Amino acid sequence: MLRYILLLTAASILSAAPEDFMDQCIDGKHHKTEPGPEDGIHGQCKPWVQKACCTANTSQAAHEDVSFLYNFNWNHCGIMSPQCKNHFIQDTCFYECSPNLGPWIEKVDQSWRKERILDVPLCKEDCESWYNDCSNDYTCMDNWHVGWNWTNGMNKCPTGKSCQKWSDVFPSAKDFCEKVWSNSYKYTSYTRDSGRCMQLWFENGDVTPNVNVAQYYAKLKGSAHNPRQGLLIVVASLLMLWAV
Ligand SMILES: *[C@@H]1O[C@H](CO)[C@@H](O)[C@H](O)[C@H]1NC(C)=O
Ligand SMILES: *[C@@H]1O[C@H](CO)[C@@H](O)[C@H](O)[C@H]1NC(C)=O
Repeated sequence: MLRYILLLTAASILSAAPEDFMDQCIDGKHHKTEPGPEDGIHGQCKPWVQKACCTANTSQAAHEDVSFLYNFNWNHCGIMSPQCKNHFIQDTCFYECSPNLGPWIEKVDQSWRKERILDVPLCKEDCESWYNDCSNDYTCMDNWHVGWNWTNGMNKCPTGKSCQKWSDVFPSAKDFCEKVWSNSYKYTSYTRDSGRCMQLWFENGDVTPNVNVAQYYAKLKGSAHNPRQGLLIVVASLLMLWAV
């Protein structure tokens, strides 16, 4: 029995490979446990039709103003402009549907989810077009994850936080992309052709660029363990030899 446990331990030590970061779904509020095809996927979530972490229902809700997903009201400081809202819809699709976020998934102790994404390197163009398309909109909060008044079942500006111009709340694109979802995204100077940043939007719905970027960061994460890994492999091999 002990030998069996040691064998399993050794196997699990050895299995921390880059592939472990690929095709992962966040342990979130609405995510599926495994990515898979989703024929009925809706609207802006369609790029993930072949491999999605969202259900068709979730993709539908991602397009609604106050949906069952989070009861989040985009129109908390007047009606959000359609061009701005399209980016938030795309962002919701990306968060809910993408199976390529593995390298940035972190455990969290929150009532509504067990995992989050942290510092996903966003392509410069994707962050800047999002920021620019919202430049005529208003908001009262810079971190949209916390601090709202939820008394009426959806988020409202808390007393003392008045609606202000977007640029007064977020002085720059970097400021916006990083703060709005408490560092889910990291602003980068990488452009979409760099292979080093994630895109929210895709040419012809082709998500391959993000698959390649995730693979690149998965390898980095794998090799970050390297100094330890050499020793672990020796220890694991010895355990295995002893166990059989
Ligand atoms: C989709 O949502 C509808 C309405 O909320 C619900 O009745 C239905 O069961 C859901 N379907 C799935 C597959 O979750
Ligand atoms: C929250 O909203 C309710 C209802 O509108 C209001 O009575 C209350 O004072 C608000 N609380 C805060 C902290 O903003």
